[in-house]
Amino acid sequence: MVDSALRQAFITASRSPQAEKIVRSSPLTKPLVQRFVAGEAFMAARAAADRLTANGLRVTYDHLGEAMTDEAAVREMVQLYRGYFAAAPRGSHFSLKLSQLGLTIRESLVRESLDAICTQAAEHDHHLRVDMEESATIDATLRLVEEAHGRGGDPGIVVQAMLRRAPELLQWAIDHDVRVRLVKGAYQEPESVAYTGREPIRHAYLALLGPLLAKSRAPAVATHDDVLLAAAAQIAGQFGNRSYEVQFLYGVREDFARQLVRDGTPVRIYTPFGTAWYPYFMRRLAERPQNVGFFLRQVLDRAASAATTGRNSDGNGSAK
Ligand code: FDA
Repeated sequence: MVDSALRQAFITASRSPQAEKIVRSSPLTKPLVQRFVAGEAFMAARAAADRLTANGLRVTYDHLGEAMTDEAAVREMVQLYRGYFAAAPRGSHFSLKLSQLGLTIRESLVRESLDAICTQAAEHDHHLRVDMEESATIDATLRLVEEAHGRGGDPGIVVQAMLRRAPELLQWAIDHDVRVRLVKGAYQEPESVAYTGREPIRHAYLALLGPLLAKSRAPAVATHDDVLLAAAAQIAGQFGNRSYEVQFLYGVREDFARQLVRDGTPVRIYTPFGTAWYPYFMRRLAERPQNVGFFLRQVLDRAASAATTGRNSDGNGSAK
């Protein structure tokens, strides 16, 4: 109960500019952000990728950014991708969000931007995947991905198992031969749209593993959940050495990822970088109460110590 209220509070805060100001201005935030985000510049992500690949792991780069409301900034984003694609080793993987390409501005802008990015990616043999955001954006996302395929692009998608319509979405990807990453789902959705609670979501995910592993192209099992990973290995075994990869988030259970690789399962690490880390970071805190507790404890400790010493949170004693 407390966990789900905390989760909801952190997801709500992930969309609040006021909360962003507070979180960004705390000097305590930085070390935790560094756990989940490889750095601000692409070269920091490349350095992280070099370390990960030296340990047998694969990498997906993600330039953080979402809910863009400025058309000029979207056009600049397309140019930034051009630079990242040129700087990444041939055949690299990239994930992006359509709200980063202007989904909240107008669909034609996304269409144009996604086309440019798909064309640039193909020039370097890179692989693209479109992350899935709030459920209200799904139909537009599928429409734009289908259109991109119609024009020769090959962006993959993500299916969020917590959604009641997830089986239909997975079937859509299978029917359209679109690559799928299966996740639990990171957004707050109403009961009518999504299952809530750990066990119902786990069950929903389990039910999708069969069709994912049997029928989809290049399936990706993206979860850090032991139960689901064991089930995926068992189901894949039933289909006889069918190739799939596991995907983890940067900063989460890397030791376990390395163990999976040693045991013969390929693992790709979703490696985010950039300055727009705030909503992504808040969703990572929301996913695990211990993260939230750790973060809140640090902030409260600092507030308490500021109160007893009469200093402000910058520690310089001056009133601002
Ligand atoms: P669960 O949350 O139950 O975690 C299982 C265990 O993993 C925990 O007990 C803990 O040990 C560890 N763990 C998980 N999250 C942690 C964290 N933040 N910090 C520390 N430990 C943690 N979602 C979405 O809606 N759209 C998308 O496009 C994507 N894309 C995506 C890509 C990849 C590669 C991954 C791995 C995940 C996503 N997600 C996503 C996020 C996904 O929906 C989900 O929120 C997280 O993966 C957490 O769920 P788990 O399946 O790991 O289970």
